Amino acid sequence: MRLNKDFISTKDLTKEDILYILDIAKRIEAMKKEEKINLLNGRVLATLFFEPSTRTRLSFESAMKQLGGAVIGFADKTVTSVAKGESLMDTIRVVERYSDIIVMRHPLDGAARLAADIAKIPIINAGDGSNQHPTQTLLDIYTIQKIKGRLENLSIGFLGDLKYGRTVHSLALALSLFNVNLYFISPNLLKMPSYLINEIKKNNQNIKETENIDEISKELDVVYATRIQKERFSDIMEYEKLKESYKLKKADLVNFKSDVKIMHPLPRVDELSYDLDDTENAVYFDQLANGIPIRQALICLLLGVLQ
Ligand code: CP
Repeated sequence: MRLNKDFISTKDLTKEDILYILDIAKRIEAMKKEEKINLLNGRVLATLFFEPSTRTRLSFESAMKQLGGAVIGFADKTVTSVAKGESLMDTIRVVERYSDIIVMRHPLDGAARLAADIAKIPIINAGDGSNQHPTQTLLDIYTIQKIKGRLENLSIGFLGDLKYGRTVHSLALALSLFNVNLYFISPNLLKMPSYLINEIKKNNQNIKETENIDEISKELDVVYATRIQKERFSDIMEYEKLKESYKLKKADLVNFKSDVKIMHPLPRVDELSYDLDDTENAVYFDQLANGIPIRQALICLLLGVLQ
């Protein structure tokens, strides 16, 4: 398998590509148990974060450093020359002269694709607006494979902000390549965009949309909960109306299969109660830890260090 130069959207991936990246992540995890490995010695990763992040930026940084690589970058555009008016195009042209690979998060849909068109080195999309978050998808699928032992014959429910949720958009598209049932549970105003439903239906007709999780809770193997994202709303009153649409707590687990797994890309606000954290069902902290081997696999593949 050969990845393209860049990693921008799960739309660019086949099922075989996904399984291959997961296998490389598994290989890296096995190698790390045996010895310290310096696959990325002498390589430099640049992290350009035009939007806040904890997990994505720090896990990329940790992933790179654990394999002997170095990291440069910024987590706050106000301390860069962007604050003086420098364009994204020029920022990319500068940073590609200091690094071997760039990870970028940006508030505008399509910004990662634009950066990839300009850059001669690989660009990894760490989230572009409401569009895509494809490295999150890989770690989500890796997590599902680990916790369920398979990626087929599963029922997966997406809950919360499905309109603006880029993690949901990326993951639903990628999972549609597998034989799974997809349930989209959201308030009417935060439904999956119709263009995405149409894309998903090209691969997989087994989808259902509902506002009421109780209708389908007993069918779900995985609940993928998401935050209602205040920062994406142009009308704050609309956010206030919708922000408490769903709240999952420990007592609600009786309504689900006993082995249902609760995932969340995090950060959470009120949609997942803290009393879920110590249950067997909550896997969101293991989920974020899977970001390390997945991101190591991706960097190694894009730099041609592993194949
Ligand atoms: N899941 C995720 O993207 O988290 P951060 O915003 O903290 O990177």
